[in-house]
Formats: sequence, C-alpha cells, structure tokens
Amino acid sequence: SEFHALVPAAGFGARMGHELPKQYLPLAGKPMIAHALETLCACPDLSTVFVVLAPDDTLFHGYDWSHCGEKLQPLYCGGETRAESVANGLLASELEPDDWVLVHDAARPCLMQAHLSKLIAELRDDAVGGILAVPVADTLKRADAQQRIACTEPREGLWQAQTPQMFRAGLLAQALQQCRNVTDEASAVEALGLSPKLVASESTNFKVTYPQDLLLAELLLQQGK
Ligand code: CTP
Ligand code: MG
Repeated sequence: SEFHALVPAAGFGARMGHELPKQYLPLAGKPMIAHALETLCACPDLSTVFVVLAPDDTLFHGYDWSHCGEKLQPLYCGGETRAESVANGLLASELEPDDWVLVHDAARPCLMQAHLSKLIAELRDDAVGGILAVPVADTLKRADAQQRIACTEPREGLWQAQTPQMFRAGLLAQALQQCRNVTDEASAVEALGLSPKLVASESTNFKVTYPQDLLLAELLLQQGK
C-alpha cells in the first residue's frame, strides 16, 4: 500500500478577516499554502499530494508550482465544511482502501519534515492510524455562565490535536460517511469505536487562524523552522 497526502484548502479564513482566503496570504515569500505543499511533496514516502480546492478556485495565485511536478494533484471539490472537503477529496482521489492518507491543513505552514517522517514511521504498521499532537501546556479553566471560573480541569493526559492525521483511505472514508459533524479526521474514526495513536509533535506545527499567527509563522519559516 502507498502513502498519500490530502490537503483541505477550500476554507474562507473568516477568523483571519482578509478578503483573500488565508491559505493564499503571502508568508515568507510565497503563498501560505505553498509551504505545507512543498514539505509534503519533498517527503519521499508520499506518492501523491492531493490538494482540495473550492470548485471556483485555482491553485495558481501568482506562484510557479512547476517544481512540485506531477506529485501535486489539485481536486476541485471543496465543500461547505472541512470534513466535507476531506470526504469529497477522498472520493475524487480514487485511492485504494488500504492506502494510507495523511490529511494536513493548508493553514499549518510550519510542518517539519522530521515530524512528518516520525508520524509515518510510528504508524505504518498500526491497525488504526493516528495524529500529530502536543501535550497541553497551559492550565485549563472551565467557565460558568457568568464567565467566572467554575473549576480547574486537570491537564494531565490532555493533548492538542494537530495534522497530519494518518488513516487508511477506506477506513477514513467510512468514518466520514457516518460522522460528518467533526473538526478533525480522528474524531470521525473515534466515533467508530477506534483509538487513534497520539504521535508527539511540537507547538511550531500550529494552525494559522488569526492575524497575529502570521507573525510567528513568518519568523519560524525564516529560521528554517
Ligand atoms: N477547509 C476546507 N473546506 C472548508 C473549510 C476549511 O478545505 N469548507 C480547510 C481550510 O482551508 C484549512 C483547513 O481546512 O486549510 C483548516 O480549517 P480552518 O483553519 O478552520 O480554515 P478556515 O475554515 O478557512 O478558517 P475559518 O474557520 O476562520 O473561516
Ligand atoms: Mg474553519
């Protein structure tokens, strides 16, 4: 079985508050999405890097993608939600059920090759699959209706989910078919009663969501992550 990446990139970036969807904002000299796509295309384990775009979009955005070659495959089937974009992309990719697929946010530009390789190495013989994640660092407070602290939640054993999230294409398609109301792939797989593995990553692989996230991403990318 082969390994492939699938990058949902059909969002609007509402929380970023720009006219241009955030995945195309300039970041360290190129459109944000180019950073993750180039890291994935450079990974020798991955056969194809599918990128799921909105039906009326084009990947071009003033950037020369030719160095990514045939490995980079745009699919014009983005949906209303991230889960829909991933489900549509999986269907359009026509992967074999046993192939591994690594789903990665276009908005996580600082993914390091080392973490990508670690994820693949730790899961390639796994029965379920899993995700990159980091142990929660902050103290967690539960709020009451008045926005006062109801209690402090123990953070022991709590992790923040990142991407890539790596599952067999057949299992993931089935999971998303049965459970579309999820914000990541692992949630859909969990709903089948399975327990995906947590593979330790670092906070540098954060998702660019708000304007202030751009500054940190720019700095990390200029430092070579
Ligand atoms: N995504 C997608 N299709 C959607 C919504 C999101 O492919 N209908 C993608 C985004 O392009 C992004 C990833 O899923 O690469 C993570 O989603 P998020 O960070 O929430 O991006 P947006 O939905 O674009 O941002 P916002 O929620 O602020 O609007
Ligand atoms: Mg969103």
